[in-house]
Amino acid sequence: MDKERQEEIDSLQALYYEGDMAVVIPKAQELVRQYQSATAINILALAHKRQGNIDQARQIFEQVLLDNPTNVLFLGNLGNIYIDMGKLDKAEECYVKALEEDPSSIGLSVSLANVYSLTARPSRALKILHQMLSHKDRLTDKDLDDINFKIAEIYRDAGSDFYDKAIEHYSRSRKRLSSTLWLELIYRSKDQETFRYSEEKVLKTGEVNPLLAAVQTHASIRYKIPDRNLFSRDPLSYIKLSKLSPDEGFNDDLVDKLLKSSKDFDARPQELLKHGSQTSGNIFLSSDPAFMTLKTIILRKIEEYRSNFSGSTDGFISNWPNNSELHGWIVDMKDGGFLKPHMHKLGWLSGSLYLSLKKIPGSNSGNIIFDLKGASYPSNSKDFPSIECNITQGDIVMFPSSIFHYTIASEANEGRISLAFDVKPVD
Ligand SMILES: [Fe+2]
Repeated sequence: MDKERQEEIDSLQALYYEGDMAVVIPKAQELVRQYQSATAINILALAHKRQGNIDQARQIFEQVLLDNPTNVLFLGNLGNIYIDMGKLDKAEECYVKALEEDPSSIGLSVSLANVYSLTARPSRALKILHQMLSHKDRLTDKDLDDINFKIAEIYRDAGSDFYDKAIEHYSRSRKRLSSTLWLELIYRSKDQETFRYSEEKVLKTGEVNPLLAAVQTHASIRYKIPDRNLFSRDPLSYIKLSKLSPDEGFNDDLVDKLLKSSKDFDARPQELLKHGSQTSGNIFLSSDPAFMTLKTIILRKIEEYRSNFSGSTDGFISNWPNNSELHGWIVDMKDGGFLKPHMHKLGWLSGSLYLSLKKIPGSNSGNIIFDLKGASYPSNSKDFPSIECNITQGDIVMFPSSIFHYTIASEANEGRISLAFDVKPVD
């Protein structure tokens, strides 16, 4: 490769890391035309993805793989795109194919284990991850963080018999949220003294996140100790319910289109949801015009929400993440469907928009209840505050992601279809 070409590719890479995709895309297109460079093609596709144009990114990778069907870089990145699009079967195919070419790739192995875990095959996921840990000399610190975190997540999902293993693996990872998840499991399964000693350790890190807040608020009520969380100590006062109107671009035609397009997404297993299904991936990465329109409407509502609370000194408002993405999914509940208590540990601000909700007059079916009681945290018979939101079709409710919530079983035959979303901090 001549020197000039290498310099141009290096400078394209530097531009990509600087983050202005409007500059990266034309430059990458030029280098693709000039040299057919694989690096430039890869950056071009990833730049489209970073701009939220995931379909364009997918097309670029699919096209270039027609001529280079065994290119490991393209296969891996296309797999990641399929994960974001909720196409888990296709993602698995990409990772398996890439690993046939490069069996020692750590990143691809973690990605495949992730697909196994997302598709309820934890044993297969653990087998891959433990195998990797047995060859530590090949792993970087970041690999170790990622692998230990993933193993901890799988053990945690396997239930309380496996909490000690999960606690051990969280403690070996320095990935974001590891120490909070470590503390949460200690809170669930150990005594007050162990919790308070462990809380002290986490407090020293200065971490601010919704799960830490949920655990600390819960502990403050359960043990009658001060709530030391830095996110929000009165999260219920930040619940905001309003209705989206045609003036804001929200109308029946848009709802019909959204409901139709949501059928293009794979469903993901969701333990918390009974008699219903949930889409996988992020619907807001879709290039479907209906989802793009809705994204604009919701982003505007989020801005309104923030300005409404702009005087607050709580970390939830004052420490709003500099970089975040809007992540959305559809929850389709059938007759009798409901969601068990949970909170959104990866979020910051969460919300729900009710696309279709037929209620029996006077009934509270399908309503959402917010509380601080937690998802099966031990409560020592203490009372925890709660608020019920009486929701109707077209309502949007926004709340700090630290609040636990669940739904009353839906009664109407037509069911209840909502769109849930999180503003998620990104590194
Ligand atoms: Fe939720």
